[in-house]
Amino acid sequence: MNTSNCRVSGQPLEIAVDFGLQPLGNGFLQPEQFPGEFRYPMAVGFCETSMMLQLVEQPSPEQMFHEQYAFYSSTSQHMQYHFGDFARQVMGMGVLSKTDPFVVELGCNDGIMLRNFANAGIRHLGIEPSRNVAEVANSHGVRTISEFFCHQLAMDIVAKDGQADAFLAANVMCHIPTIVDVASGISKLLKPTGVAIFEDPYLGDVVEKTSYDQIYDEHVFLFSAHSVQYLFRQQGMELIDVQAQKTHGGSMRYVIAHAGAYPVKDSVNRLLEKEKAIGLNRMATFRKFSQQVEQSRTELIKLLTGIKAEGKRIAGYGATSKSTTILNYCGIGTDLIDYISDTTPIKQGKFSPGMHIPIKPYDFFMASPPDYAMLFAWNHAEEIMAKERAFIENGGRWIVHVPEVRVLG
Ligand code: TYD
Repeated sequence: MNTSNCRVSGQPLEIAVDFGLQPLGNGFLQPEQFPGEFRYPMAVGFCETSMMLQLVEQPSPEQMFHEQYAFYSSTSQHMQYHFGDFARQVMGMGVLSKTDPFVVELGCNDGIMLRNFANAGIRHLGIEPSRNVAEVANSHGVRTISEFFCHQLAMDIVAKDGQADAFLAANVMCHIPTIVDVASGISKLLKPTGVAIFEDPYLGDVVEKTSYDQIYDEHVFLFSAHSVQYLFRQQGMELIDVQAQKTHGGSMRYVIAHAGAYPVKDSVNRLLEKEKAIGLNRMATFRKFSQQVEQSRTELIKLLTGIKAEGKRIAGYGATSKSTTILNYCGIGTDLIDYISDTTPIKQGKFSPGMHIPIKPYDFFMASPPDYAMLFAWNHAEEIMAKERAFIENGGRWIVHVPEVRVLG
């Protein structure tokens, strides 16, 4: 979907960063698919009315979320703990009805969060458009339908299952171009005392860390408290709490309720003030961000070419969607990176989108460790560093690009 106007306010967008032609972030492919590989012009624009940073053009949802969707949430042990905690927080908030609680999760993936509710005997419904991961959720006893959430689907759910006590989403809301329709659906789906709790990569972290790799086809928006507040106010709802999360290299959890249903916590005003200080509500901040992104690219190319010139081997660690933006924006191919190691079976044996670097199983990395590993899964740095002590002890080094390009180890 192409737009030159903000998807939330309808006002004209100003281009903030232009990344040129990009493939799908999760579009891992086989050599016979190289000719005619899909590419689209990727640029982000900003709207000073809604304060939403958003993709100007986004491939159709059917192109991105389908039965071959390569992302399974449960591949990370840490994420399993994270969603267990998230679920326990919701159960302990006092918002679930005592008699017959009902929890809906949008984009429940393989059921990583909802299985906690299923195990506690709580009535639930997962909505997951990617059929392959939805099937995994169902096989874990998580009641899941394979649909795209919208206002109409919300009305259908209310007619069949009644209104919900809690609406949850993690790393999903930022994927949805029709966010106004979704916000309207949420307002209809929730009981008067219901809450919507969702988390997504946080714009403040992206700007502060120059983590421009959070920008790819699936992330049509990067939210802030300002933009989330604007979006939900239009539906008669308000932001009542915000909680910073470490996941995905810096995320924010937003709690939304019908206006007046609950007091607004101090955390909301504190974050709004902080965002004003960083300038997340102003276009000028994103013009500067664009320069930071260019500088990060120049430094990364210089570092990798320097290491390669010394005859060293470099591999990628984690074939993340984020890495697709870095590799294609910086023009990094097999001349610099030999292979990318990844634990996800569906990615292994394929090639990275656009730059066609081979994806190898983790065993390959263990058997043939490189001199340098570029940490594309930098959002899992803690978990990975703990696991890979032997790599460092044997002389291996890490290359990271956030918050700045450097070598560790
Ligand atoms: P993810 O963090 O979801 O990033 P993105 O949203 O950008 O795709 O993906 C992490 C990827 O890294 C996933 O393909 C699994 C892989 N991975 C490893 O190969 N080894 C690991 O130890 C971890 C934690 C992840």
